[in-house]
Amino acid sequence: MNKGGKTRLERFIARVVGQRCGIDAAAAATGALAGVVWEVGLGNGRTYDHLRDRFAGRDIIVFDRQVASHPDCIPPQDMVRLGDFHDTVPAEATRSAGAVAMVHADVGSGDIAASRALGRWLTPLFVQALAPGGYLVGDQPMEDAALEPIALADIGAADLAPDAYFVYRKRG
Ligand SMILES: C[S@@+](CC[C@H](N)C(=O)[O-])C[C@H]1O[C@@H](n2cnc3c(N)ncnc32)[C@H](O)[C@@H]1O
Repeated sequence: MNKGGKTRLERFIARVVGQRCGIDAAAAATGALAGVVWEVGLGNGRTYDHLRDRFAGRDIIVFDRQVASHPDCIPPQDMVRLGDFHDTVPAEATRSAGAVAMVHADVGSGDIAASRALGRWLTPLFVQALAPGGYLVGDQPMEDAALEPIALADIGAADLAPDAYFVYRKRG
C-alpha cells in the first residue's frame, strides 16, 4: 500500500475505469466531428479494442515501438506507425495537422518522472494534430492553453481520484 493509501490493484482498477469513462465521453462528444482517431501506446491492445468499438467506422492510427497486442487486436498494417514516439508522432502530427478527432495516449511506464516528461513532450504535438473540438484522453497530465481540462466528475466518474486519468477538449 502506498500512493494515497491505494494498493497497486486499486490504482490499476481506477486507471482502466478512467480509460473507459474518458474514451466513452470523447466518443459521445465527437460524434459529429470528422476525423481520425489516434491510439498512442498500443500495448496489449485493450484500449485499442475499446476504441474500435466506440469509434466504429473511423480510421484508428496506432503508435508503438512494436505490435505486441493480443492476436484479436492487431491493427491493419497501414494504420500502424511503428517506432519511437519521438520519430513517429511529430511526422504524423505534421501529416494530419488539425484532422484528428480524438487522441488516446496511454504512454506511461513504472518510471513516473519519465512518463510525465514524455506526456509534456507529446502535448504540443497532440494540440497540433487535433481538430478544434477534438478530445485528448490520456494517462498523463497534458497541459496547454489550447486544451480545456474536463474533470472526471463531469463525465460520470466522480468516484475516481481526479488524477486517475486525464481528459481535455481542444478549444475552438
Ligand atoms: C501502458 S502501455 C499501453 C497499454 C495499452 N493502451 C493497452 O490498453 O493495452 C504503453 C505502451 O507505450 C509504448 N511506448 C512507451 N514509450 C514509447 C516510445 N517512446 N516510443 C514508442 N512506444 C512507446 C510501450 O511500448 C507500451 O506498449
